[in-house]
Amino acid sequence: MSSNDESRFSFFSRKKTPSIDESELKIPTHIAVIMDGNGRWAKKRMLPRSAGHRAGADNLKTLCKNCGHYGIKYVTVYAFSTENWSRPESEVHTLMELFVEYFDRYDPELEQEGIRVRFTGDIEALPENIRAVCKRAEEGSKHRTRMTLIVAFNYGGRREIVQTCQKLAQRVKDGSLDPSSITEEMFASNLYLPDVPDPDLIIRPSGEERTSNFLVWEGAYSELWFSDVLWPDFGMQELTEALVAYTKRDRRFGGLSKEK
Ligand code: FPP
Repeated sequence: MSSNDESRFSFFSRKKTPSIDESELKIPTHIAVIMDGNGRWAKKRMLPRSAGHRAGADNLKTLCKNCGHYGIKYVTVYAFSTENWSRPESEVHTLMELFVEYFDRYDPELEQEGIRVRFTGDIEALPENIRAVCKRAEEGSKHRTRMTLIVAFNYGGRREIVQTCQKLAQRVKDGSLDPSSITEEMFASNLYLPDVPDPDLIIRPSGEERTSNFLVWEGAYSELWFSDVLWPDFGMQELTEALVAYTKRDRRFGGLSKEK
């Protein structure tokens, strides 16, 4: 790496610089991130878990900015799963409050970055005030085209598949759908956000190596990348490392690589 490259990466001073030129990176169209480790981040600082979630929400802004820098078009983040309702009521309340605050508070910054906001999940089952936030954020940002931020909220991959089955089963029952016409493409076109391309790369920080019911259908061929860094500390250094790893992957989608 030339000294010129070094200066371009100088803001990564905490750790070793990725040994690749930025212009050589293969940029995924869609990345998805499991924002894990907020609780451990807070515990390390002897702070309440709510402080970890707040720091995690702040870091979402940083992620958007960093993804914008690389020209990534879609970023999906896992903010609240269908299983997270089993957490203590006070923690669920904190997460709901953060959600309600977030999109109004940061709308000017999202606007400045040209970020459209969309939601995925069982949104209809959420309380009315949360649904209103979703509607306002989606309506107010739908003209923005630089990047789309998709927030998975009350999201579960299995629930998404079950709800899609229910929708199609209802059409079969009504007589408007022949079961033999249900193909993979047709099924996919009935998921929550059928117009969004599948994620190319799923990132999970915090040392856990599983996908926890995230994008079960859409992530069937996603590359996976794990990091030990806790979500509130996941910055440009870590994103770049993930992109370096992604650049080196040979995506075959069940076929053979081009060289073979
Ligand atoms: C998992 O970390 C994180 C969550 C369940 C919530 C993620 C939510 C945010 C980052 C903030 C809310 C987002 C928006 C859009 C306002 P954990 O708490 O399970 O961490 P731990 O495994 O260290 O306990």
